[in-house]
Amino acid sequence: MKQDIVLKVNGVTYNVTVETHRTLVEVLRDTLGLTGTKKSCNEGECGACTILMDGKPVASCLVLAVAAQGKEITTIEGLAQGEKLDPVQEAFVKHTAIQCGFCTPGMVIAAKAFLDEHPKPTPAEVRKALSGNLCRCTGYQQIVDAVMAAAETMK
Ligand code: FES
Ligand code: FES
Repeated sequence: MKQDIVLKVNGVTYNVTVETHRTLVEVLRDTLGLTGTKKSCNEGECGACTILMDGKPVASCLVLAVAAQGKEITTIEGLAQGEKLDPVQEAFVKHTAIQCGFCTPGMVIAAKAFLDEHPKPTPAEVRKALSGNLCRCTGYQQIVDAVMAAAETMK
């Protein structure tokens, strides 16, 4: 079954027709072309598909697109202001917190949501906050360093 829905993503309103069983990550990637959000486990386990929904981090593989109507959705494409990267993105680059990059969009989004609520975190708090975002490459230390540096920048 198909349904006409309205999605607001990164401040842009999209009118789309979707099959009602399609998840938000599928519609973001396949219909809207916002492929920065990654899909990996598709079961809410890896964090690769993390987006912000009304400012809160959400696994977009667990949300039906039809259920995302009326929400403010932010994806990794919505963080930078023109050429200017978000401080969390800048810190990830500076601290080499990116290797293959597959986890990075979800990690950055989760880190941003965490820092919005916890502007002065400890490294242990950062690790705990990002424990739902899996990375197979970095060993996590550079990611923690990047988030701590971003917290400093954003003070
Ligand atoms: S793809 Fe959504 S949590 Fe893994
Ligand atoms: S950088 Fe490769 S999975 Fe995290």
